[in-house]
Amino acid sequence: VKDGNGVKGLMDSGLSKVPQRYIQPEEERIKIVGTRKHNVSPIDLSKLKGPNHKKVVDEIVRSVETLGFFQVVNHGVPLELLESLKDSAHKFFSLSAEEKCLFSPGVSPSTKVKYGTSFVPDKEKALEWKDYISMGYTNDEDALQYWPNQCKEVALDYLKLSSKMVRKIVEILIENLGVKLEESRIEGLLGTKLVNMNYYPPCPNPELTVGIGRHSDTGITVLLQDHIGGLYVKLDKDDNNNNHGGWFEIPPIPGVLVIIIGDIFQILSNGKYKSVEHRVRTSTESRVSIALFNSPKPTEKIGPVEELVKKDGVAYYREVLFQDYINNYFTHAHYGKNSLDFAK
Ligand code: SIN
Ligand code: FE2
Repeated sequence: VKDGNGVKGLMDSGLSKVPQRYIQPEEERIKIVGTRKHNVSPIDLSKLKGPNHKKVVDEIVRSVETLGFFQVVNHGVPLELLESLKDSAHKFFSLSAEEKCLFSPGVSPSTKVKYGTSFVPDKEKALEWKDYISMGYTNDEDALQYWPNQCKEVALDYLKLSSKMVRKIVEILIENLGVKLEESRIEGLLGTKLVNMNYYPPCPNPELTVGIGRHSDTGITVLLQDHIGGLYVKLDKDDNNNNHGGWFEIPPIPGVLVIIIGDIFQILSNGKYKSVEHRVRTSTESRVSIALFNSPKPTEKIGPVEELVKKDGVAYYREVLFQDYINNYFTHAHYGKNSLDFAK
């Protein structure tokens, strides 16, 4: 199976140096020396139910306005499930090339299930040091039929339980904009769901490669990272709110999920909310992460909400059909938040 075992296959064949096509241009490499860490306490979502409701809402809103991400505990996804997700990701990626290739595009029994490598391989200056299995959701029956046996049950549980939290967060963000959306619109905004399991093989030259290059996400992402670390976000200011921005590592905290805000919230809010630019470093150890991507249905129109445009006196983004936005997203290499340019 040619190239069918992804980056992992390359490593298993006994490489001592990364091949040229994985070597990033100087400006994209991630230096470990001098890494700054963003140490901010996760938000306790169970407190949304108690007397501190307003305080928690404020924390969420402030994070999305200034950072474009936050971390959560008591998110409704049991800790045992988080452990099973990481285990099952390792299980899937340690399958033989032949078994994984059953999910390659063109072979996979569903167009929604895809085993692949890098992000937009034919457009990138250098490839990412990453393999993934992407599992698009249509309904439970299809998921259980077409998703890989090694991970389908846990991935589906993750999707279900995280979706409740996502819905709550999105309601908070919308309410804070001072608008009322119809139920069908909220469902439309969260109508496309995808669970991605990422596998970053051990890398002999972490200083030359990236696991994922800098990009922003589309909608709202729930991310589970394992204990290895390597997720970086780009911030305007440092932890003390000084103007010392730049790249900060998000150290993994056991049991915690990272909520990443994507471009559509920046567009809908006319720039009030931010999507966050992020990337992943490789290391000499393997790393897994499991993401639930929540995006609009392809037929949803995404533009700044009318009330805000009236108030601001200007629309900073144009209205786009989500289908067009996502086509652009998956056919261009990402260098920062350039995916957002499509709506300018
Ligand atoms: C992603 O940005 O999609 C994945 C981030 C990670 O692996 O931590
Ligand atoms: Fe991402």
